[in-house]
Amino acid sequence: MSVKIVVGSQWGDEAKAKIVDYLASEADYVVRFQGGANAGHTVIVDGKEYIFHLIPSGIMYPDKICVIGNGVVLDPTALMDEISELQKQGIEVEGRLFISQKAHLVMPYHKLLDQAHEHSKGNKSIGTTGRGIGPAYRDKAARVGIRIVDLLNRSVFTEKLESNIQAANEMLTKIYGYEPLDVNEVIDAYLEFDRKIDPFVKDITTLLNDAILDGKNILFEGAQGALLDIDHGTYPYVTSSNTTAGAACIGTGIGPTHVNEVIGVMKAYTTRVGNGPFPTEFDDEFATQIRDIGGEYGATTGRPRRCGWFDGVIGHYSAMINGLSSLAISKLDVLDTLPEVKICIAYRHEGRLLKHFPVDSDVLDGIEPVYETHPGWQEPTKHIRSYSDLPLNARAYLERISEITRTPIKFVSVGSDREQTIRL
Ligand code: IMP
Repeated sequence: MSVKIVVGSQWGDEAKAKIVDYLASEADYVVRFQGGANAGHTVIVDGKEYIFHLIPSGIMYPDKICVIGNGVVLDPTALMDEISELQKQGIEVEGRLFISQKAHLVMPYHKLLDQAHEHSKGNKSIGTTGRGIGPAYRDKAARVGIRIVDLLNRSVFTEKLESNIQAANEMLTKIYGYEPLDVNEVIDAYLEFDRKIDPFVKDITTLLNDAILDGKNILFEGAQGALLDIDHGTYPYVTSSNTTAGAACIGTGIGPTHVNEVIGVMKAYTTRVGNGPFPTEFDDEFATQIRDIGGEYGATTGRPRRCGWFDGVIGHYSAMINGLSSLAISKLDVLDTLPEVKICIAYRHEGRLLKHFPVDSDVLDGIEPVYETHPGWQEPTKHIRSYSDLPLNARAYLERISEITRTPIKFVSVGSDREQTIRL
């Protein structure tokens, strides 16, 4: 029996799905536990690209059971689009995709409110994905959210929906000057989802706890990254869920004593989409160069990602708040051509050295990164499958990352294909 959690350890987009896809071959269950269709998880198998927003990346293996936990906010339209896209590729999900009855729904008014709020904030916006994530989690916390279990009970669903649409319309019209939603249109459109989603709904808390008792292997697939965590990230420039390892327990209902391993995925450099502090961000010209080599465009929104050097302060912080047992370093190959590579080892603020990640966004805005410069390896690595075959300078760079984060490296990814993975 093994229970492993894979989490993003920077600002998301660390290529978690590739590591999950690799480890899924050894798992029986692959489980999403937080976030929603804001995630964009890309898996490349035999040169063919698949992007998942809600469905766990393990769906690529026909014998794996995939689970969407209670911590996820689920947009039924996005889910159905994803299921039909998979069916078109010949991948059947019925009988092996299960969704928690306790998961909350993302409704059209959540998406409108997300977009309207972002628009109203102008240059102070968070830069959300516009997928309604914040408003859906807000309804959950306010105890007015609609859960999957409600969707299966027409009278409860209609009553809750009517009341929520009325509340949303007040905000849409009075605060943001938007047109109101037609209550009946939304109800009609969404009532049909009960029949479509019903085959997938299950008590996944019991399903997973029974599986653990039966000695099965469970793999948790995190979405976004540690610095986007609502509690531990660069608040308010974060997502609205807990993205760190502890959320795997809350987002499914398994106890922390069952978890054996937490693998943190970090890129060999850093990226971020959306607004907010980014201490090691490159200047525009260098960012464009790395963005082009690394294909750094959002899988959900297509937005160009901001790029920067590896930030060891963040790496260390992330290892701590996730309790990482090992690291998977992704996209090493993107740095292959550089004559030198830098690692940020501390921040300087008003003449003082900060070795720990500051929580105050004003401090974060005013810090200067302190870098170590390492010689580049300037050799291709994409074809390498064994750690000892990596160029000496690449190994030295990786070993320094491991030292700074105080975490052993278990995987190094040197390309987007499943095969381009080095296991240590
Ligand atoms: P939201 O999750 O759509 O509310 O967006 C909040 C912040 O999280 C924004 O900066 C988004 O760009 C970022 N974000 C959300 N999901 C992802 C993801 O999957 N990868 C990277 N950034 C994300």
